[in-house]
This record gives sequence, structure tokens and C-alpha cells, in this order.
Amino acid sequence: MKILGIETSCDETALSILDIEENENGVEVTVLANEILSQIELHRPYGGVFPKLAKREHQKNLDPILKVVLEKASFSTTEKPPIDAVAVTQGPGLEMCLWTGIVFAKELAEKWKVPVIPVNHMEGHILVSLMRKIGEASQYIIIEPELPALSLLISGGHTELVLIRKVGKYEIIGKTRDDAVGECFDKTARLLGLPYPGGPEISKFASEARKKNITLEKPLPRPMIDSKDLDFSFSGLKTSVLYATKDKNLSPDDIKKYAREIEEAITDVITNKVEKAIEEYSIESLIIGGGVIANTFIRSALQKVADSFDIPLYLPHISHSTDNALMIALAGYFNLKNKHSKDFKAEGNQSISK
Ligand code: KG4
Ligand code: ZN
Repeated sequence: MKILGIETSCDETALSILDIEENENGVEVTVLANEILSQIELHRPYGGVFPKLAKREHQKNLDPILKVVLEKASFSTTEKPPIDAVAVTQGPGLEMCLWTGIVFAKELAEKWKVPVIPVNHMEGHILVSLMRKIGEASQYIIIEPELPALSLLISGGHTELVLIRKVGKYEIIGKTRDDAVGECFDKTARLLGLPYPGGPEISKFASEARKKNITLEKPLPRPMIDSKDLDFSFSGLKTSVLYATKDKNLSPDDIKKYAREIEEAITDVITNKVEKAIEEYSIESLIIGGGVIANTFIRSALQKVADSFDIPLYLPHISHSTDNALMIALAGYFNLKNKHSKDFKAEGNQSISK
């Protein structure tokens, strides 16, 4: 079956068309089209996402991107395309942005007489990590993870440890009490004078510090690393950077040292909590999702954790780590039973646990 996925929860307008079939190999996915229009440049002057601007951009761009994905999939842009269902992000995210995608999805579903499937964005981040490339460039198989699995979700708005005893059933066993990991990257980067989004910037400067073998003289804290629970806290790290850098003229090397220390402090906390959760819940596989896992340093640190427990690690392709609609179309497929007519709303704070 062919599914159109629509993602507008934050500052990416994304549409994707997947052809999914179940055969003796399991669930096979062919990516017919996957387009993302990032608004990063527009939001950069604000140092973060400006919701009203994001909404206006989504509204402006959905139609043109739809035309592009239909053309890429070699479907008609004037007659009803052979799409069997439309999947759209219901939440979590910026409510006014979510609504633009939902209204658009409902209109298309009505016009094409196909069902519309509301999708949880974070479930999309988990499922896209289970795609493994086979054969040709656009062909994938969906891995059935060893259970119970642990998913670490690290994005701009979320930091969660999710216990999965069955795919589709999610239990949050740990989360941040304040800032999300991505938010911590973005806010500390800003304190160092680096542009939005801060994650990739910190990562770039941190790797330069490692190349030059320079480190910060006074280490930054690793908040809650010794707490017995599986919760996180990152606002203290941000505050430490604020006080340490306040009224100082940072040299390029200082910025590199801070970036390295920030990345390493975050990585230490994340890997420590993941190890605790693996032990506590006798975890058999590890699935990581969310924009922050585009970070290569964190990817290799988590690989070491998985290796030390001798369990498989499932990471998304780097290009599928940050927000996209491929993950929404995929989650739509796994939620076909939740077909809705017209009666669902945007849920800005929607939780993955159901
Ligand atoms: O999943 P995502 O695209 O959007 C949300 O659902 O929030 O995640 C965006 C977050 C931003 O905070 C961004 O700074 C962070 O992911 N990010 C990174 C990297 N690339 C993106 N953080 C660390 N290192 C990276 N390479
Ligand atoms: Zn996301």
C-alpha cells in the first residue's frame, strides 16, 4: 500500500510517499519520495523557532511540496493519485503548526476518498530507526527488535527513555525534568555565540577541540548522573555555562573547549542513564531516535554501551535523524487501525505512552 506522510510539528515542512508491502521477508518499504523544506534560515535571526512564522511557511509550502512528491513518485498531480492513506503528525509539537498539517491531510483524504491516520511524532522517530537498507538505494526492511527494547528519544523538545515490551506499546520510564537534550545544545550554543540550531554547531567545534587535543580546565557538571532514577535534568548545565562564560571574551579555542565539554557532559549523562535502564529492565535491544542522534560522538558512545551489553543498537540513518515525513508515513502504516474520519485534533503535548 502507498502512504503519504505529512510532518509540520515544528520548523520543517515535510512530505513523503512510501510503498509498503508485507511479504515473507517481513515489512518492506520503498521510498518513492521524501522531501523536507527546512525553515532554519528564516528562524535563525530569532535564535529559535518563531511559531507564527513557522505556521505561515507550512501553509505556503504544503501544496508545492505535495506536487514535488507526487511527481517524484511518478503520480499524477491533477487526477487522484494511487495513494491508499494519508498519515499526519497529530502531536507533540507546536499546536498551530500541527493544525496546518492536519487540516491539509484531512482535505486531501476527503478529496481522494482515503483514510487519514493521526501519528505520534515520537513514535515516528522510533520506527524510522528500525529501517535497514536492502538492495537498491530506496529499499528498506523493517527490523523486528529484540524485546524488551529500550528507546532513547533525544530531540529539541524531548528527552525520554521508553520501555517497549511490544512494538506499538510504549511506557516512559525516565524523562527530563526541565530542558530537553536538543534544547540544551541549542541554548548553550547560543551562550557561546553560535547560531541556531546549536546541536550541529557544538558538535563541529567539539570535534575541532578533540583534533587539537584541548580541554576545558574546569569541567562542567553532569546533572543527575548519580541519581538512582532514570530522569534527566539539563538546565543546570546551561546555567553553569552561562556563569562560566558571562562577561568573558571567548577566544575561538575557548569556544571549542566549551563545545567539547558540553558534548561530553551530555554524552556522559545519556550513556549512564541508558546503562542503568538496560540493567534495570533486562533490555535486549536499544533503539535511538530524535534529531540529536545525528550527533556522531553520541552515536559512537551509544554503540560502545550496546557492545558492552552485547545487545543490538538501532540508529536512524543520519539523514532520517532530524524531522522528516518518512517516519510519519511509516508510523501511519503501523497505526492503520487508528483510521480517523475528521474528528481528531492537534495535541501539542501528546505523550507516546498509550
Ligand atoms: O527531532 P528534531 O529534528 O526536532 C524535534 O522534534 O525537536 O530535533 C532537533 C534537535 C535540535 O535541538 C538540534 O540542535 C538537534 O536536534 N541536533 C543535534 C544535531 N543535529 C541536530 N544535536 C546535536 N548534534 C547534532 N549533530
Ligand atoms: Zn522530532
